[in-house]
Amino acid sequence: MINIAIDGPAGAGKSTIARKIAAEMGYVYVDTGAIYRSIAYACNFAGIEAAFPERVKAYIEPLDIDLEYIDGIQHVYVNGEDVSDRIRTPEVSAMVSAYAALPCVRDRLLGFQRDIAKRQSVVMDGRDIGTVVLPDADVKIFLTASPEVRAKRRFDELCSKGESPVYEEILAAVNARDKADSTRETAPLKQADDAILLDTSGLDIDAAVKAAVDIIEKAR
Ligand code: DC
Repeated sequence: MINIAIDGPAGAGKSTIARKIAAEMGYVYVDTGAIYRSIAYACNFAGIEAAFPERVKAYIEPLDIDLEYIDGIQHVYVNGEDVSDRIRTPEVSAMVSAYAALPCVRDRLLGFQRDIAKRQSVVMDGRDIGTVVLPDADVKIFLTASPEVRAKRRFDELCSKGESPVYEEILAAVNARDKADSTRETAPLKQADDAILLDTSGLDIDAAVKAAVDIIEKAR
C-alpha cells in the first residue's frame, strides 16, 4: 500500500497533476477539497451558516458522505445524492474556506479520509494531507505556483468556458482564499517538514506531472 500526499494552494494544479499521477501509477486519486466543498454545499443548502459551529457540528455528524469512482472520476455523494457538479460553483468556492476552518468539520472528515487511504494506494490531494491526515505518507509533495500564475490559469479556464472573467477579481479571490486557508488555526495550509516543494509557475501540465513522478520515484 502506497500513500502519496499532495498539498498546496488553490490553482497550483494539484487536482490535474494528482489525477494524472494516480492514473499513471494505478492508484486511486482522492480529491479531498471536493469533500470539504460537499460539506459547505450541504450546510448552505440547509441554511446552516459557518458562523454557528454548534449547528454545523450537529448537522454534519449524521450526514452520509461517500465517494465513488465512475470511469476513474471521483463523485461525491451526500445522503445518497451526487453533488459533484453542484460543488463547483463560484458560490461554493467563496464559502468553503469558512466551513473548512471549523474544527468540527475537520474532525468529522479526518477519519473518513484516513480510512480511504488505509484501504488502497492513493494519491490524495488537499491542504493538510502531509501534515495532519497522512503524516506517514510514503511521499509528500507541496505543489505551488505564484498567485499571479494561478489567477491566470483560472482566468483562462473560465474564458475557455465562454465566460468573461475579470483577472483582478480572480487574483483578489486567489489571495483571499490563500490567506484564509493558511492562517486558520486548525490544520492550516503549510508545507510539511518532509515534503518536497514543486513550483509549477513555469511548467505546463505535462512537465509538472513528469517532475512530480520523478520526485515520487526518487523518494521511494
Ligand atoms: O482544493 P479545493 O479548492 O477544491 O478546496 C476547497 C476548500 O477546502 C479550500 O478552501 C480549502 C479546503 N480544504 C481544506 O481545508 N483541506 C483539505 N484537505 C482540502 C481542502
